[in-house]
Amino acid sequence: MIRSVLLGTGSALPKACVSNEELATRVDTSDEWIRERTGITQRYIAAEGETTGSLGAAAAQAALDDAGLTIEDIDLIVLATATPDNTFPATATQVQMRLGGKGFPAFDVGAVCSGFLYALTTADAMLRSGMAKRAIVIGAETFSRILDWEDRTTCVLFGDGAGAFVIEAQDVAEDGAGIIASRLHADGEHGEMLYVDGGPSTTGEVGKLRMKGREVFRHAVANLSSVLKEVLEEAGQAPGDVDWVVPHQANLRILDATARKLGLPMEKVVVTVDQHANTSAASVPLAYDVARKDGRIKKGDLVMLEAMGGGFTWGASLLRA
Ligand code: ACO
Repeated sequence: MIRSVLLGTGSALPKACVSNEELATRVDTSDEWIRERTGITQRYIAAEGETTGSLGAAAAQAALDDAGLTIEDIDLIVLATATPDNTFPATATQVQMRLGGKGFPAFDVGAVCSGFLYALTTADAMLRSGMAKRAIVIGAETFSRILDWEDRTTCVLFGDGAGAFVIEAQDVAEDGAGIIASRLHADGEHGEMLYVDGGPSTTGEVGKLRMKGREVFRHAVANLSSVLKEVLEEAGQAPGDVDWVVPHQANLRILDATARKLGLPMEKVVVTVDQHANTSAASVPLAYDVARKDGRIKKGDLVMLEAMGGGFTWGASLLRA
């Protein structure tokens, strides 16, 4: 059967790391509050010149290097972001150019924190249908640029960064490597719980992130548990078969509550939210890259990716590394 097999991963972070203590000198908050409520201890914040496109290109190049490939080997780029460099052109086209590529399709996908799951599932479908052979799938964000730094209930939660996968269509055995099953969902009724209060077609301004934290929390745990069950069922696997869960890194308490609902021990959950905070679409590939490169995720491991974000949108993907 044809599956999209993961050949390489990469990530990129801005140079500046901002600790909770440092943030507390500028915002009415404390290390203790942030740590207790979210598990976050620090985040990376883009400086002038560091953009979603530059971070995305750096992560993509790292993933190409990891796979032992060059841009010549690629015929598709899908980039997930809610913070594009410009309203248009799509940041994916600028990443293609930065990498030295030309001609093949490159486009952005917008599903906020679930963006990487949406991008990966789209690229996977295009690879399996024969439309492309090898894709770079990127999650890249500079949420620091859409945060209201006067609003302590949101600005402490997010960070900037990028992560990327290189995937290739391969003919594999049923128990072989690759993406086994994916599910995506959306429900626009809850749009006002997590949104940006601007846009090209409404205010003409970029706008700032707004969130009803408690409601988001409640929906996140319910939606994630249900989509994880769906994907496991579709793949014919039990929670106990999963070697690693690489969740969207929103908040340690969401990760903990979701794992508990599925009966999965936290030792199987990759946690990077403490180091990176919530990097939206970048968080899943960033966390995957960290866990693969430090030796936790090994070849043959069964890995569940999952995310939930504004919209709401949510999704999960099961793959064999
Ligand atoms: N520092 C200090 N105090 C704060 C801060 C802060 N940064 N932010 C809020 N507070 C205060 C509030 O003012 C409030 O004070 P009060 O009781 O005197 O009014 C108190 O802390 C409690 O505020 P709540 O908002 O009720 O705190 P809660 O326990 O709900 O935690 C949090 C807030 C962490 C945002 C939580 O709701 C949450 O994790 N929600 C999920 C949101 C999320 O992760 N979104 C990410 C995007 S979606 C996704 O990725 C899944």
